[in-house]
Amino acid sequence: MPSLVIVGAQWGDEAKGKIVDVLGNQAELVVRYSGGNNAGHTVITGGKTYKFHLLPAGILHPGSVSIIGGGMAVCPKSLIEELERTQELAGHELGELVISPAAHVVFPYHRALDALEETARGDNKIGTTSRGIGPMYTDKVQRMGIRMGEFVQPERFADRLKQVLEFKNRLMELLGGEPMSFDEIYSEYSAYADKIRHLVSDSEARTQRSIRKDDKVLFEGAQGAFLDLDHGTYPYVTSSHPTAGGACLGTGIGPRDIDNVLGVCKAYNTRVGEGPFPTELDNEIGHQIREQGHEYGTTTGRPRRCGWLDLVALRHAARINSLSGLVITRLDVMQNIPEIQVATDYLVDGKSLGHMPYTLEEWDQVEAVFETMPGWSEDISCAKSWDDLPETVQNYVQFIEKFTDTPAAILSIGPDRDQTIILRPELIWG
Ligand code: GDP
Ligand code: IMO
Ligand code: MG
Repeated sequence: MPSLVIVGAQWGDEAKGKIVDVLGNQAELVVRYSGGNNAGHTVITGGKTYKFHLLPAGILHPGSVSIIGGGMAVCPKSLIEELERTQELAGHELGELVISPAAHVVFPYHRALDALEETARGDNKIGTTSRGIGPMYTDKVQRMGIRMGEFVQPERFADRLKQVLEFKNRLMELLGGEPMSFDEIYSEYSAYADKIRHLVSDSEARTQRSIRKDDKVLFEGAQGAFLDLDHGTYPYVTSSHPTAGGACLGTGIGPRDIDNVLGVCKAYNTRVGEGPFPTELDNEIGHQIREQGHEYGTTTGRPRRCGWLDLVALRHAARINSLSGLVITRLDVMQNIPEIQVATDYLVDGKSLGHMPYTLEEWDQVEAVFETMPGWSEDISCAKSWDDLPETVQNYVQFIEKFTDTPAAILSIGPDRDQTIILRPELIWG
């Protein structure tokens, strides 16, 4: 049962897309399990740059099947545009795409509500990607969402949309927005449904069959551990479950169907949007990391907040995801920083907190404790193996492994497929 979950072990944008692409050609099935087009996964290959938001990054491999899992939030308009864009850019046949009938559909009223709710939050805004993701998952929990399986049945869709829109229009008016027209949404979205109906089929049975056949199945996470609705820095989180447990909920498998979990982390930390970030560097070094790493959001273009690697958080991510191994990315970006710091403890009132903060008040009081390590000036982006790396880089990697009690499986030293060093293949497919 070689099945592998790839999760973000920080606040998103750890380079999950690149890693899924690198391993995707070995997989029969690549399944995305949570989030929607709030995600932006960049894959650079053959001189072309792909930005995936809804499509699993495995779609570039014609031999594999890509699944949009039931845990996802799918904007059909973006999906169709993304499919067309990817097809055109690739210039070759893409892998087969299957959409779960259980996936929920994002509508224009979700996007409108995302903006209205952010305005209503005022100074406490979350800094969402404004893709309507939060309001869509709210509908799911409120048992009001429209699922793909209903969306592609014209009469059922009309009934559901009528019922939901009446409620949403009242809500939008309450928040100072304009009501939306049933006829306009129905006619625009019915056309989208016509275009994707043939892709909607029982993805759960397909995934379970592959698992039973011992196919290689790769579960592609979006977002990151600390954006998880339950495990993240609540309320500054997304509304889904990016952690490895989400791979079960969002695809129709059980925990014993997962063999390995790889947690992707940068050699430092970044975060987009608001919320706690104890190792943030609001100074020249933060600026240097942002510029050397081109740290601007794939989805929204916002500058990412940058900071030192937070090992307290990373160790926690290793535990909540039961990580088999780490994928440490963007090591090349740390070039020419004379001294590197890593957070090894959280203090509150001068005492070690001993756990991850549960409340914003606790997060506000947290003071990170740092250890300092020597940096490196060498360009490591062409290294082919562990032995090609300077000792300073090796020591940095080993310090991370030891502190988190998690071995490094893969190192990434540049955005290209080739700039990848596989250290422990046994941690990937078992
Ligand atoms: P994701 O959301 O986790 O898939 O990550 P994003 O695609 O949003 O952001 C990661 C960025 O880092 C992308 O622009 C990648 O092309 C780039 N990237 C991936 N791995 C590396 C690496 O090892 N070094 C550098 N410099 N860039 C990388
Ligand atoms: P990938 O998959 C980084 C952040 C937003 C915001 C919070 C809530 O590319 O790693 P939402 O629109 O989800 O309600 O916003 O979550 N966020 C991400 N940050 N990478 C992502 O995805 C993100 N998806 C959501 O910036 O802080
Ligand atoms: Mg991203």
